[in-house]
Amino acid sequence: MMATVLVVGADKGIAHSIVRQLDARGDDVIAACLFDGADLAADGIRVEPQVDVSSGESVKILAARLAANDTKLDAIYHIAGVMWLDELGDIDYDSFRKQFEINAIGPLRTIEALRGLLKTGAKVGIVSSRVGSLGDNTSGGMYAYRISKAAANMVGLNLHHDLSPDGISVLMLHPGMVATDLTKDFPGEHEYITPEQAAAGLIRNIDHLTPETSGRFQHSDGTFLQW
Ligand SMILES: NC(=O)c1ccc[n+]([C@@H]2O[C@H](COP(=O)([O-])OP(=O)(O)OC[C@H]3O[C@@H](n4cnc5c(N)ncnc54)[C@H](OP(=O)(O)O)[C@@H]3O)[C@@H](O)[C@H]2O)c1
Repeated sequence: MMATVLVVGADKGIAHSIVRQLDARGDDVIAACLFDGADLAADGIRVEPQVDVSSGESVKILAARLAANDTKLDAIYHIAGVMWLDELGDIDYDSFRKQFEINAIGPLRTIEALRGLLKTGAKVGIVSSRVGSLGDNTSGGMYAYRISKAAANMVGLNLHHDLSPDGISVLMLHPGMVATDLTKDFPGEHEYITPEQAAAGLIRNIDHLTPETSGRFQHSDGTFLQW
């Protein structure tokens, strides 16, 4: 049966590829975009424009628009995020707070606002990052990004505890090192995968998500990660 799937942060990057791939396989995709998602709309994909996950009003408007046409969701991918680099001695706390608003509070306020639209048995995937793993932090740095993503992981685990009694599964996701605008100025030599590869892996993870694997943190390559 055709699934109705909301992808949040779909303007570009990994989320944009997920929208394209879900649409290509016949899912009923709703692309929530910060701007207008013009290229997706031009191809007949349903776009919800001006969805800013750092604004409570914005996500409530999204929820109201979806409710107004009786949309019930089989899955939500929350992918919107930013990476603004910093280092100790030069941390801009206004930027830090803004990053936290988007990366950590963003998924919480969005899923909280949309909760009533999720079907029993629905799936929620939230993209954080392996750099938000406490156990994996062997190099430090990136204070605002790491802290916001660690907090996002806690959002996901908490949502799992609250939503699993309703039959809703929640998975935290790491896409891998992906060549997108977000990483284009990232220092160091890294082996990047494409947004299409990351998207395919994340879709596979959500396809395979069950109540038994809910409340965990998974790489797009399928391996489960430590918190
Ligand atoms: N690329 C990697 O290697 C990597 C690794 C680990 C985790 N991640 C995570 O993966 C996610 C996607 O990243 P990406 O690499 O695809 O980056 P990207 O190409 O920069 O895409 C990020 C998306 O988030 C949207 N966005 C930003 N702020 C938003 C807001 N306030 N409300 C709604 N949408 C907002 C952007 O919209 P606009 O384009 O309109 O600004 C864009 O569509 C992020 O959460 C990122 O932290 C990426």
